[in-house]
Amino acid sequence: MKRLHIGLADRGYDILIGSGLLDSLGRLIADVRTPSKAVVLTDDHIWSLYGDRLTAALGDLPHRVLVLPHGEQTKCAEVYAQALSFCAQNQLTRTDMLIAFGGGVIGDLGGFVAATYMRGIDFVQVPTTLLAQVDSSVGGKTAIDLPEGKNLVGAFWQPVLVVADLDLLQTLPSREQAGGMAEVIKYGAIFDSALFAKLEAHPTWETLTPILDEIVYACCDWKRQVVERDERDTGDRMLLNFGHTFGHAIEAHGRYTDYIHGEGVALGMVLAAKAGIRLGVTPVGTDDRLESLCDSFGLPMTDRFPAAALTAHLALDKKRAGSALRLVLLRAIGEGYVHSLPVDEVLSLAEDIGDAN
Ligand code: NAD
Ligand code: GLY
Repeated sequence: MKRLHIGLADRGYDILIGSGLLDSLGRLIADVRTPSKAVVLTDDHIWSLYGDRLTAALGDLPHRVLVLPHGEQTKCAEVYAQALSFCAQNQLTRTDMLIAFGGGVIGDLGGFVAATYMRGIDFVQVPTTLLAQVDSSVGGKTAIDLPEGKNLVGAFWQPVLVVADLDLLQTLPSREQAGGMAEVIKYGAIFDSALFAKLEAHPTWETLTPILDEIVYACCDWKRQVVERDERDTGDRMLLNFGHTFGHAIEAHGRYTDYIHGEGVALGMVLAAKAGIRLGVTPVGTDDRLESLCDSFGLPMTDRFPAAALTAHLALDKKRAGSALRLVLLRAIGEGYVHSLPVDEVLSLAEDIGDAN
């Protein structure tokens, strides 16, 4: 088992990464907290696969389980209120605990319930998707969606422990494995050329599985460094948005049904590389390297986007600061940076790459 400490003064916590950790969950929690009871939030897919093991793993910790429908639509105000009521009906107190057992949907929702129930209670993240293990369970961003947009309501609320059992990833549908890989590739692209090269040397899920522990650890360690420098997302944390500006536009263009998040990010990273090449800051060929790595992990790379669709969504981007948009671009593989450009220039750039991609 690998252990990584997130150093955030009185909000610091450990991330545990390894195989078979789920069965020791009760003991791992007891090492950091001694709640008298817990509420577990999860979804129907995960519960049907791992419910019995989780119950056994919690041993004599009394707990009640709320099994929610899977999917992004669960991250909404109605289910949030349902989860709060479930905590109250089960008389959860401020010294008790919430356990978020699932992917990013359950983690974001569970974290927000924990952040706000009785003004904040302890919670443990047990991430079950690759995306959640390398990204959403780390760093304390919690949220629900509104009909007006994704992640519009939330809080920064750190877990007291993250337990990432790599074995759980083997039951993920291959599309979700690939979607998580987009975030893994992102860390290599913005921070770590050696990680990127290692992925190129193990370019499929099967070849990567034997070294998944070091890959997940490396991603969490990069996220640790960013979160320790910029917990509240006012500076460096923005680098994690590489591929996301164009990616969100692509997700929105697909009405959030054609593409899962990682697929949008993968296509967005290639477009961001093309944008950097057009601006003369990214070495020629970087887009091809990204595209071929994403493709080898099964991320769809052949889709084309009408420039008008990209620009319409970019004009609404929430990372807009007045008349400028901050894009994350690459000086090289492993060297991401934030590039501010007037919105008009980004839109004409998007027209160029949207037409030519
Ligand atoms: P998800 O939670 O919807 O999980 C994807 C699917 O996989 C679901 O159908 C789920 O039931 C299933 N699943 C989960 N674990 C499984 C397993 N081990 N075996 C089989 N099936 C399993 O999606 P996700 O990609 O994990 O998370 C997406 C969410 O994460 C979005 O809401 C996004 O906004 C959020 N997010 C948050 C942050 C953050 O910093 N808080 C960062 C990135 C993304
Ligand atoms: N996933 C982006 C962040 O945590 O800041």
